[in-house]
Amino acid sequence: MRNGGPKARIAVIAGDGIGTEVTPQAVKVLKAVRAAARRPMEFVEFDWGADKFLREGVTLPPGAVELLRDEFDAILFGALGDPRVPSNQHAADILLGLRFKLDLYVNARPVELLDDRLTPLRDRTEKDIRLMVFRENTEGLYVGVGGVFKQGTPDEIAVQEDVNSRKGVERIIRYAFEYAGQNGLKRVCMSDKSNAMTFAHGLWQRVFKEVRQQYPDIDSRHLFIDTLAMEIVRDPGQFDVIVTCNLFGDIISDLGAQLAGGLGLAPSGNIHPGKTSLFEPVHGSAPNIAGKGIANPLGSVLTSAMMLDFLGWKPQAELVRAAVRAALRENYVTPDLGGGKTTGEVADWLVDFVEKNNFAGR
Ligand SMILES: NC(=O)c1ccc[n+]([C@@H]2O[C@H](COP(=O)([O-])OP(=O)(O)OC[C@H]3O[C@@H](n4cnc5c(N)ncnc54)[C@H](O)[C@@H]3O)[C@@H](O)[C@H]2O)c1
Repeated sequence: MRNGGPKARIAVIAGDGIGTEVTPQAVKVLKAVRAAARRPMEFVEFDWGADKFLREGVTLPPGAVELLRDEFDAILFGALGDPRVPSNQHAADILLGLRFKLDLYVNARPVELLDDRLTPLRDRTEKDIRLMVFRENTEGLYVGVGGVFKQGTPDEIAVQEDVNSRKGVERIIRYAFEYAGQNGLKRVCMSDKSNAMTFAHGLWQRVFKEVRQQYPDIDSRHLFIDTLAMEIVRDPGQFDVIVTCNLFGDIISDLGAQLAGGLGLAPSGNIHPGKTSLFEPVHGSAPNIAGKGIANPLGSVLTSAMMLDFLGWKPQAELVRAAVRAALRENYVTPDLGGGKTTGEVADWLVDFVEKNNFAGR
C-alpha cells in the first residue's frame, strides 16, 4: 500500500534503449534498500516498449491503466524511444497515455547540485542550486488538440491548442504551495507568459492571485518565463519552488537539469497525491549509447529515491541519495560525468554503500 503501508507494489517498465540498462540497476539498489529496511517491496516487470510494439502491434495493452491504478502503488519507468519507430507512436501511447489516464497532474523535477564540480556555472556551489520545478502535466499544449489544414500545400496551416482549465491550474499551483509549506521552503515563483498569452495565462494569473492569499507565510512572486530563464542561470539561489505550465516546465526543468550536472543525473516524478504515480529519469532512451553499458544509472537511482519518498520510505530515500553523493565524491561514475565505470559497476558500488551504511534506525 502507498504512503507507508505494509507492502509496496512497484510496476517496472524499463522501456527502450538505455531504459532497459539503467532501470534494472535502479531496481538492484532498491532491493538492497528493501533488505536493509526489512520491509516488503514487490517488483513486477512489464515489457511494454518498441520491441513489443514491433512484434505484436501493442503499445499500452487493454486493461493496463486499470491494472496499474488498482494493483500498484508506483511505477518505475525507464525511457521510451527507438529509431525503428520513427513516429514514436508507442512512446506517446504509453507515456502520455499513463500521464493523462492516471491523471498524474504534478510533474516534479528537482534540480539539486550534488557535487560542486558538476555545474557549468562559475563559482556556484551545492547551496546555490537546490530547487524544485513543478510542471503541470495533464493540460496545456500537450493535450493534442489541434489540426492541420491544406497539408502539403503552400497555404498549409497548423493549429495546436493550449488547453488550461481552472481546476488544472489551481491544483498544480496549490500543490506547489503545499509542498513549500511541508518542506520548510519559503519561496514560490509562478511563471507564465501572460503578457502575450493573455487568455490562457490570464487564467494562471487569476488563480495564482487567489491561491497565494491563502499562504501568507510563503513569499510568492511571479516572473514571465523569459525572465525566469535568465534569472535561473544568473542566480539560481533565489528559487526554492517554481510552478509553471506543461511546455514551460518541460523546458525550464531541462535547463535546471543542466545546471545540476546534466541529463544523466536528473530524476522526475509524475504524481497524483494518494494515487498510483510514475517515476522516471528525465533522460530519454539515448540510442547513441544504448547497448554499450555506459549509461549513467544515477538519474534512475535518484528517481527511485523520489519514489521511496512518495511511498513514505523517507530514511531509505535519504540513504539512496547519500549513496549517490558518495559515488560522485569518489568519482565512481560513468563517462558522461568524466569517469570510466560501467552502468553495472556504479550500481554495484551503490549497493555496497547501502549495505555498509544501513544504520540509525533506517
Ligand atoms: N521520457 C522519455 O521516455 C523520453 C524523454 C526524452 C526523450 N525520449 C526519446 O529518447 C530518444 C532519444 O532522444 P534524445 O537523444 O533527444 O534524448 P536522450 O535523453 O535520450 O539523450 C540526449 C543525450 O544525452 C545523453 N544521455 C541521456 N541519458 C544519459 C545517461 N543516463 N547516461 C549518459 N548519457 C545520457 C545521450 O547519450 C545523448 O547524447 C528519442 O526517441 C526521444 O523521443 C524519451
